[in-house]
Formats: sequence, C-alpha cells, structure tokens
Amino acid sequence: MERQKVIISEDIKAALDGAVAECHADRLLVLVDETTHRLCWPVVSSVDCMRDAHLIVIGTGDEHKTLDTLTHVWQQMQQCGATRHSLLVSLGGGMVTDLGGFAASTFKRGMHLVNIPTTLLAMVDASVGGKTGINFGGLKNELGVFRNASSVIVDTVFLDTLDHENLLSGYAEMLKHALISDDPHMLYRLMSFPIADACDAPFLQLPTRLVAESIEVKQRVVLEDPLERGLRKTLNLGHTVGHALESLALQRRPVLHGYAVAWGLVCELYLSHVKAGFPVQRLRQVAQFVAEHYGRMDFDCRDYPELLRLMTHDKKNVAGRINFTLLSDVGRPVLDQTATTAEIEESLDFLREGN
Ligand SMILES: NC(=O)c1ccc[n+]([C@@H]2O[C@H](COP(=O)([O-])OP(=O)(O)OC[C@H]3O[C@@H](n4cnc5c(N)ncnc54)[C@H](O)[C@@H]3O)[C@@H](O)[C@H]2O)c1
Ligand SMILES: [Zn+2]
Repeated sequence: MERQKVIISEDIKAALDGAVAECHADRLLVLVDETTHRLCWPVVSSVDCMRDAHLIVIGTGDEHKTLDTLTHVWQQMQQCGATRHSLLVSLGGGMVTDLGGFAASTFKRGMHLVNIPTTLLAMVDASVGGKTGINFGGLKNELGVFRNASSVIVDTVFLDTLDHENLLSGYAEMLKHALISDDPHMLYRLMSFPIADACDAPFLQLPTRLVAESIEVKQRVVLEDPLERGLRKTLNLGHTVGHALESLALQRRPVLHGYAVAWGLVCELYLSHVKAGFPVQRLRQVAQFVAEHYGRMDFDCRDYPELLRLMTHDKKNVAGRINFTLLSDVGRPVLDQTATTAEIEESLDFLREGN
C-alpha cells in the first residue's frame, strides 16, 4: 500500500478544490451523518466544486454503522447515477469515514474517495491507515476492506464544534501515538498542552502541528506494516485492557472509546514497567495525566473476572493467550507479550488506586 496522501489544511476551501480536481470525477457525492450535516457541511458547501454535489445523509452514531445504512448509501449512489469514475467525499467522524470508505470501495468495484475527518479521533486515527468497514452480527468492524482514500484533508477548523468528551477521546489516541513515537518530547508536548481548557477557550485551539505530528506517527507505522503482520500491532497499545473496559462499561454506562484507551494505556504501561522495564517515573506522569483528564472508571475487584474473560476473548489473541503490545521505554515497543492473571489484576489495582 502506498503512503496515504494527507493534506494538512489551513484553508479548507482551497484544499477541497484541489483534492476534488485531482480526481477528475464525473459526479460528486458527499456522505455526512445528521450531526456533520448540521455542523460541518455548512463549512464546505459554499466551495465551488461542491455546487452540484449529491448529499447522502445517514444517522449519527455507531449504531448506524450497519449493513442497512450501507445499503441505503449504495442505493443513493445508484439513484444519482454514480459510476466508478465518481467521487465520494466522506465528511464526518470515524463512523462516516469507515462506512463511506467501504461503500466507495465496493460500489462498481471502487470509486474515488476523499476523507475529511471532522472529529479528532478520525483525524489522527480512523481516516488514516486504509481500514474501512461496518459492524455486523454484533461484532465491531466485522466486514470491510483495506483501501486508502485518494486524499485525506485534515483541518482543525472542524474541532470548533466538537464537544469536550470527543476531543479528549481523540487525544487519548494522540497520547498512544506519542508513546510509540521516536520523539520522546512529543509526549511532554501533549501532557503540557492545556487540553482541559481547549474546549471553552477559542484562543486555546489545539495546534494543528500537534495533530499533524500524531498523524505522521500512524502513517509511518502503517507504511511499514500495512496489513498488521508485525509493527502495526504497536498501534494496539492500551487497547487490550481498553477494549475490555469499554465492553464492561457497555453493560452499565457506556464510555467513549478514547476514555477506555486512556485507562487501558495506564494498565499496559504498568505491565510494561513490570515486564519490560518501562521507567516508573514516566508511568506515574501518564497515570496522573489520565486521572486528571479522564477521571476514573467506576469498577472494583469484583469486576476482575469479567474483565479477564473479556481480554481472553479479544480478537487479537493467538491460541487463547492474552496478547499485549508493551514498551520498554517511549518509542521502544515489545510485541506479542503476555501476562499472568496476577499481573493483570495488579495493573487494574494500579489504575484504580494510582500507586
Ligand atoms: N479505520 C480505522 O482505522 C479506525 C480507527 C479508529 C476508530 N475507527 C472507527 O471510528 C469510529 C469512532 O470514531 P469517532 O469517535 O470519530 O465517531 P463518530 O463518527 O461516531 O463521531 C463521534 C460523534 O461526533 C459527532 N461529530 C463528528 N464531527 C463533529 C464535529 N466537527 N462537531 C461536532 N460533532 C461532530 C458525530 O456526529 C458523532 O456524534 C468507530 O466506528 C471506530 O470503529 C476506525
Ligand atoms: Zn483506538
């Protein structure tokens, strides 16, 4: 897979005109969910190239990342006369870019695709890396294909309307990228940026450069290992425990993916310390940042068996062994690690008690 073309934009209109012109498409379609239709479409609808765009609006939220919605998108494509020379612009968070990417890859065996991610999580994670798909049969991202967009246009102007929780959710993936990056200062740039105030104070916008360097980390990893045979597993840091916490929360009060990842990072850095020598001082700094910004998840040791059960069923496991990506230091991944039940429980104790 080629390196994904990512345009870091400070002029969304010019970036969009350029990306659309490059595709020489015979028809332009734009996919939005109800929320990005209301909040993000007005930002781009006045761009010249959008004049004759056919708008497809789908429901908001992951519960709409389904075959029914995909069918609706395919039908709309057919009805407006789209061909394999047409272009789909996905304007939205990861749900829209995942579903749009799958629809564009399969209609007429694949049409042009441009992603405009509008959540922080989609900017730094979902819209880059070529994974597209929908949920199916009760399982997340069960159907899909690998397919890069022709261009991904990243413009932080869209973050102006994003709520605090979704901003923090994306920020957790940025922390993860910083932890696996070669540049140890990236983590400190993130932990010293006043992200807690960024939502309320317009002058405190998240700097584009922090977003751009985070995307660069993901790009580099994906380019070296597009199909997740080795190095790409480093992107799973925090996700073995994170997914288990996310699933446990689903049984009570759901939490955003990034919150679960932030808590998962604390547990997996603890395991990294115990098993791979990750420096204790850095572990404490990250744990403190996460407690301050993401709070603590409401669970106790009676939930440990269920959390372990969920980790045992994680799809990344091989031969029933709970699989972790750990770090011996920032930027030093140790792949395919496992841990004992006692060690995992200790990491959960550490998350709950912070010591
Ligand atoms: N393909 C990948 O590699 C990859 C990686 C990570 C996550 N994902 C997928 O991404 C999805 C999660 O991404 P997400 O958090 O962006 O979800 P999302 O698309 O559901 O967006 C979250 C919420 O924010 C709203 N929103 C979007 N842009 C907004 C804006 N600018 N202002 C205000 N509200 C806005 C959405 O309407 C939605 O309500 C999941 O489906 C997940 O599976 C994919
Ligand atoms: Zn994630």
